[in-house]
This record gives sequence, C-alpha cells and structure tokens, in this order.
Amino acid sequence: MKLLQLTDIHLTKPGETIGGREPNQNLQAALTHALSHHPDADGLMITGDLSDWGDKADYERLKDTLNGLDLPVHLCIGNHDERDVFLSVFPDKADDNGFVQAVVDLPVGTGLLLDTWGPDSHAGFYCETRQSWLDDTLSEVVGPVFLFMHHNPVPIGIAPMDKIMLQDADAFGQIVEKHATKIRHIFHGHCHLPLSGSLYGVPFSAPRGTNHAGWPDFGNEGNLSASDLPESYAVILADESSVMVHMVEYGYQGEIRREGSPDYADWNRLTMVR
Ligand SMILES: [Fe+2]
Ligand SMILES: [Fe+2]
Repeated sequence: MKLLQLTDIHLTKPGETIGGREPNQNLQAALTHALSHHPDADGLMITGDLSDWGDKADYERLKDTLNGLDLPVHLCIGNHDERDVFLSVFPDKADDNGFVQAVVDLPVGTGLLLDTWGPDSHAGFYCETRQSWLDDTLSEVVGPVFLFMHHNPVPIGIAPMDKIMLQDADAFGQIVEKHATKIRHIFHGHCHLPLSGSLYGVPFSAPRGTNHAGWPDFGNEGNLSASDLPESYAVILADESSVMVHMVEYGYQGEIRREGSPDYADWNRLTMVR
C-alpha cells in the first residue's frame, strides 16, 4: 500500500502568500510532484489546515482541484479551517454527529479520519461524542488501523506549540492505549515540523507541510517560529507487517547527484570510499 500525505496546505485567496510562498501554487506543485513520482498511490490524505482563513472560495477551489484527480482523496480539517464552511462545500464529509470523521477502506486495513477542530481556538479538541465514536469504531473495524488527524496528540516540547496541541490528549491517549494492538500508525500535521514518536507504543509521524515551514525553536517560551526550509509531503508505504514514512522535500532547489554521474563520482570519492 502506498499513500500520499499532504498537510497544512493553508489555501489563500490566489496570489496571497504566507511566508513568501503562495499556498495554491504549492498545492499544485506538491500534487504534480507526488502524483508524477507515485502514479501507483492508493490514496491521498490531506491532514488539515486546508484553508488559511476558512473561506468558502478556498474550499471550492480545493474541491475543483481534487475532482480532477483519479485516486481516492480523504480530508481532515484543522484549526485554520471552519467546519461549517467546509461542510457547506463538502457536505458528504460529515459523519452522523456532524463531525468531519470517516472510516475508509484501505488496501491494508482501515483508515480513520478524525476531526480535532474546535471553535475560536487554534488548539485541538476531542470531545466525549468523538471519543465514543472512536472507541466504538476501533472496536468494530478490521485492523490494522491507520489514524489521520490534524493536531498532535503528544507535546513536542516547545511551549507555544504545546499550547495549541490536542487539549483532550489524555482521553484520546486512553483510547489509543486500549486499542494499541490494532492501531498501526497515527499521521498528523499542525506543527509544520517533521516529527515522529509514539503514544502508548503506537508510532506517529508528521511531515513539515506543503507551504510555510516551522522551526524547532527550543527555549522560546512565547512565540512560534518560522523558517525557509523546503516544502514537503509524506509518502507512506505499508504492508501487513511494516510501515515506512518518507518526508519528500519537493521544494528543495538544490542539486540531486545520481550514482553514475560525474557529480556523484566526485561526491562518492570524497565521502563513500574508505
Ligand atoms: Fe497549519
Ligand atoms: Fe494547524
């Protein structure tokens, strides 16, 4: 199974930039890069912050873009989204409780799309209704299960980011612990940083995002930090026994030295021959 994870696409009114980067252009560039290198991908997952300000026009533009793709596409919403506005454009993405949650069949196991959105906050929330849904769903579905969500369920150790992590992380963690043998991996976004770790033994990972980049600014207690590190997406490879996650920095503008080329021979002589 091969899945593509894009996150934090932060669509803006076309032409408006964030950190000097135009999110609509970057979404197109990420899709072009990902789909040309991975025409065999089984699905595309976009893990939230779809729009930068929750504008309806952003969701309509996103829908047009995604309608042109010929692979299954699955969406989560993030803190920059507006659930009601999103659902006005994507009404079929609402579950029975009105959350943007879903169960999707994957070539290996089952994917669960989680809604960690809450009003008037950049933090993430997972209320008792959603907790019950997740607990019940995890009991019912065929494993292995892959969770997709926007907010990080584990603190990253950088204070301003941890203020806006998943606020119901303890309750969420208890559900993960209960079903840990069934959950293979958690994929999230939100931090604009490449992250990996585990929660009750369940691995998680996040790529940096398709547009603006963060910086792991340890010690900065008050402010978020940005950088010009390359735009990226993730390629997820999984079978019955293993998972591999790549972060592909498609925005990298430097050289790629291929084995067999003169440039690679120079590099190889200096670094690889002992
Ligand atoms: Fe974001
Ligand atoms: Fe976010």
